[in-house]
Amino acid sequence: MGQFDFSKRDSFGSKFGVIAAAAGSAVGLGNIWRFPYVAGENGGAAFLIIYVLAIVSIGLPVMLSEFAIGRMAQRNAFGAFKKLAPGKPWYLIGVMGILGAFMILAFYSTVAGWTMEYLFQSITNNFQGKDAATLSTSFDSFRTSGSSPVMWQLIFMVLTAGIVVAGIKNGIEKYTKILMPLLLLIIVALVVRAVTLPGSAEGLAFLFAPDFSKLSAPVILEALGQAFFSMSIGMGVLITYGSYIGKKDNIGNSAAAISAADTLIAILSGVAIFPAVFAFGIEPNSGPGLVFITLPSIFNNMPAGYFFSILFFSLLLIAALTSSISVLEVVVAYCTEQLGWSRKVATAVAAVAITATGVLCTLSQGPWDQLTLFGMNIFDLLDWTSANLLLPLGGFFIVLFAGWFLSRKQVKDEITNSGTTKAVFFEAYLFIIRFIAPIAIGLVFLFGLGVL
Ligand code: PFF
Repeated sequence: MGQFDFSKRDSFGSKFGVIAAAAGSAVGLGNIWRFPYVAGENGGAAFLIIYVLAIVSIGLPVMLSEFAIGRMAQRNAFGAFKKLAPGKPWYLIGVMGILGAFMILAFYSTVAGWTMEYLFQSITNNFQGKDAATLSTSFDSFRTSGSSPVMWQLIFMVLTAGIVVAGIKNGIEKYTKILMPLLLLIIVALVVRAVTLPGSAEGLAFLFAPDFSKLSAPVILEALGQAFFSMSIGMGVLITYGSYIGKKDNIGNSAAAISAADTLIAILSGVAIFPAVFAFGIEPNSGPGLVFITLPSIFNNMPAGYFFSILFFSLLLIAALTSSISVLEVVVAYCTEQLGWSRKVATAVAAVAITATGVLCTLSQGPWDQLTLFGMNIFDLLDWTSANLLLPLGGFFIVLFAGWFLSRKQVKDEITNSGTTKAVFFEAYLFIIRFIAPIAIGLVFLFGLGVL
């Protein structure tokens, strides 16, 4: 289908656009749906401290490495390694990234579909008067029903593809610049509502007063894994976005701002959710159902709950959408640049192929839950392998590539824009990507496999 014209490569139009798009990728279901329930299951404040430590000491250096590789190469996640390491097998990182995009977006679009159903139910005031048990049953019957979750998933994927097909400046950047500030506004409104509920102090204590006896090796590794998923690192999303960042932008500052935004939104989600959980006597360790089962009963029991439930599920949908477009972009950038497909064809083919996998995921929640491999249905299998195998393995090789394959000068030039900006942190960064990060990520990987 022809050759891609690299001189016509799209790019972000502004520094704020870069931050909005990449923070949009990082902030997603991982922050708002996954973070509160994982923190809830792992003791709250002690988990939070390790999670923040993991972001600063490992996640941030991995993110910066992805940006540096992408911007240096000016290519998609596969082409970047082909260009920087010709004839070497490093491009397999890109292959893993494309595989990861399929796997993550498949189950991500299932959960995003649930979010749309719950937004719809919020608007039609469907939760009112139902107790937690009834809400739990109705969540399960919806989740396992097949047709309705598949319908929402298809709608979600059409929305995702619709943004991606418009390109970088006129698609991803344009929408995330509006959606990300809106998201922050909605979450602040929810936080204000939550902390003014009677009994909110207990929830805040759960989140902020650490009980270090809750810490254990599995909890620490769980926090590191959550940091990876939440920051969108380890599968080339930020290599791809990095390739669209202008040569004059300070990627160190951008990575710091994006990591800060991602962490802030996760913590704000916790502040919005835990006071309410405690105020209404709900168990903080209720698992993945925390959002879909528990929150509707919280909304039911609070003043202006109708209004706040619409706000909350809109927020979750926006967050999911700005993440899913980044995952789809990994595949689309590969198809356009490496295979020479037009952006329209690439988006359509990638979206259809991913949606097909996604539908299997959704059906595996109900009608096809007998279809299992290693004791897991398709949804759990993709969720488990992407988070526990793919992202840690991808991140591991990315830091090895930046730390050991690329020269110190290449990396320093990229990060300091050939010496025009300062990077006082450079030595510490290099030490982390050469030693600390590979070892720590290696531990996450081994833990994921159950070796440790
Ligand atoms: N970071 C996203 C979230 O927190 O929901 C999920 C995600 C996006 C994970 C992109 C991995 C990825 F490559």
